[in-house]
Amino acid sequence: MKTILITGGAGFIGSHVVRLMVNKYPEYHIFNLDKLTYAGNLVNLKDIENMPNYTFVKGDIVDSDFVLKLFEEKKFEGVIHLAAESHVDRSISNPTEFVFTNVIGTVNLLNAARSIWANNPGGKLFYHISTDEVYGSLGSEGIFTESTAYDPHSPYSASKASSDHFVRAYHDTFGLPTLISNCSNNYGSYQFPEKLIPLFINNIKHNKPLPVYGKGENIRDWLWVEDHARAIDTIFHNGKTGQTYNIGGHNEWTNIDLIKLMCSIMDRKLKRETGTSGKLITYVKDRAGHDLRYAIDSSKLQLELGWKPSLQFEEGLEKTIDWYLENQEWLDNVTSGDYQKYYEEMYDGR
Ligand code: NAD
Ligand code: DAU
Repeated sequence: MKTILITGGAGFIGSHVVRLMVNKYPEYHIFNLDKLTYAGNLVNLKDIENMPNYTFVKGDIVDSDFVLKLFEEKKFEGVIHLAAESHVDRSISNPTEFVFTNVIGTVNLLNAARSIWANNPGGKLFYHISTDEVYGSLGSEGIFTESTAYDPHSPYSASKASSDHFVRAYHDTFGLPTLISNCSNNYGSYQFPEKLIPLFINNIKHNKPLPVYGKGENIRDWLWVEDHARAIDTIFHNGKTGQTYNIGGHNEWTNIDLIKLMCSIMDRKLKRETGTSGKLITYVKDRAGHDLRYAIDSSKLQLELGWKPSLQFEEGLEKTIDWYLENQEWLDNVTSGDYQKYYEEMYDGR
């Protein structure tokens, strides 16, 4: 059996990747290493937790001794690294945490892989999951390709850019077999409701204000999370070592258009009079350093490896809204306690 390490598997995207790999590859033993921060939730993996080819390991990638010992014990042959602090607003309030997990944590994993694969790197792979935010911000023209120069603006994207540079440096300097992918904004089930789509679904449901940053004119390129997970599977198995692949769905929306679409779908689903949810829209102070536009060119992945998105956005958004409406208990559990405090601090005075 091949032993594969997935980090951050209890989070939003990680849980979809773990589920796909555990179900699709009974010949792999999948180890899910996660610290279970506020964003990590084992309930996300309830359906596969008893599978014989799955093991959860609670631990912190910032702890280098622990990471090295785990690699020595389990002799991982592949790594898919998703663990990260992932929310831009939190990185503005507390940048240091992002340096620890996203930079130091990634370097600890690279060191451990290098240490156990030194004499036999053949067939091994360290696959690092990154973001389109490392490329910076576009004006009304242009699109991010794999050769776009890095230009991060938030502490989050700076920490992800730094981790990408370390991954490439370990490939070029030490010959570590690595791969990187940079994906656009994901949406779907199990996303923590601090991010735009689940936050606004929850707020609309509870008739709470919808805090739109600035004028709502920023543009994001949205991809269904299960299509991202399929892309990760494709790249992990067929990607060329040392390469980078962009992942995205050619699906750009201004925030305000997306929010209006969500409001109209929610009015219909909650049987509210048309226009009711839209009245919750509240323009608030802009995010500091707010990137204007992201747009990803994923043609390399599509042409070389044959991946393409499976779902139209309108259909995916309906499915996503249905999931959150049907899983109110999940939302209630993750929005209690500490989250309430974060929410008040984050939006108070905006
Ligand atoms: P998330 O915040 O939902 O999940 C992150 C997971 O990492 C959580 O389970 C958390 O407990 C775990 N974690 C955090 N710090 C850890 C540590 N020190 N040690 C071990 N585990 C730790 O994030 P997500 O949205 O699922 O993003 C996953 C990855 O994909 C990240 O690397 C992110 O940068 C990248 N990404 C996200 C998006 C997106 O739209 N969400 C898009 C492109 C790339
Ligand atoms: O592009 C990929 C990135 O997408 C990932 O790397 C990040 O991990 C992920 O969090 C996401 O970053 P964004 O900052 O784009 O996502 P967020 O959901 O926080 O915000 C989406 C847009 O909505 C952004 O322009 C800010 C705006 N926004 C967000 C929130 C939370 C609001 O207007 N109001 C809000 O309350």
